[in-house]
Amino acid sequence: DELGVVAVGFSGGQTKDGVDDGPTVLIESGLLEQIKTELGYKIFGDQTVQLFKELIPASDPDFRGMKKALHASAVTRSIAAQTYEQSSQGRMVLTLGGDHSIAIGTIAGTAKATRERLNREIAVIWVDAHTDINTPETSDSGNIHGMPVAFLTGLAKEDNEDYFGWVKEDMRISVKKIVYIGLRSVDFPERKILKENGIKAFSMFDIDRHGIGRVMEMALAHIGSDTPIHLSFDVDALDPMWAPSTGTPVRGGLTLREGDYICESVHSTGNLVAVDLVEVNPRLVTAEDATANETIRAGCSLVRCALGETLL
Ligand code: ARG
Ligand code: MN
Ligand code: MN
Ligand code: MN
Repeated sequence: DELGVVAVGFSGGQTKDGVDDGPTVLIESGLLEQIKTELGYKIFGDQTVQLFKELIPASDPDFRGMKKALHASAVTRSIAAQTYEQSSQGRMVLTLGGDHSIAIGTIAGTAKATRERLNREIAVIWVDAHTDINTPETSDSGNIHGMPVAFLTGLAKEDNEDYFGWVKEDMRISVKKIVYIGLRSVDFPERKILKENGIKAFSMFDIDRHGIGRVMEMALAHIGSDTPIHLSFDVDALDPMWAPSTGTPVRGGLTLREGDYICESVHSTGNLVAVDLVEVNPRLVTAEDATANETIRAGCSLVRCALGETLL
């Protein structure tokens, strides 16, 4: 199988340094080699990590409360062009982040390519402790990594192309085709947005109640059996026990096995068109994970499972 890889060393959607090193440490730990030799993919795309320094504007003042929005818009626009290009060739696309703002680009690109190629709307499975659906106006932090779903669904709109106005109708996704899994830190305005738009969400409560097996059955049933799927996995969905090196850790999360199971189930549908793995920050180390090695291992495991690693 063919895999288009996009490695995005971007941290401007939030304020902590180091998440721009995420793709480098994932690749250095051997992830792409394993994907080639163990999973048998042929890899396409520029595998050098892109830092987008050339897209840093001379001045980038707050805009509608968003921090560094000019840069984030330019970077995600470039990412969208890259995932569009790979997805248009019928390749599965793997994007290694970077903070979660980059999903504005990854999903915009695959949504447009899939519309053109298969005449289908994609569904998005968003695995995260957070919903990342704040609009610029509801966000407390101004961090764009808390807003990607709002821009992708059109709940946040902007005409100015320099501030995400480039996300046009054919790049958007439907609120009916998003499913969240792993939630446990949802802002009050975000709860209102979920409710008003009838967005499907499985919190940690639901996983405890039904088990991850049943939750995945329900999640996939909501999407429908032959819908192309973009899986956007924020490593902070995992409990900090498994993935401590991340910018906004929240206790009470998924075990590594539950995370792997989500990826395995999505892979087994045969409908996966793209995978993002984001928010691995190797510079935010803890006493238990002094080299961020556990977080990196967990990230690699999730990606391999999404790409079809099987044990038996
Ligand atoms: N809800 C908070 C915010 O909007 C946190 C978002 C965390 N997002 C993430 N991709 N880790 O700032
Ligand atoms: Mn998160
Ligand atoms: Mn996120
Ligand atoms: Mn397979």
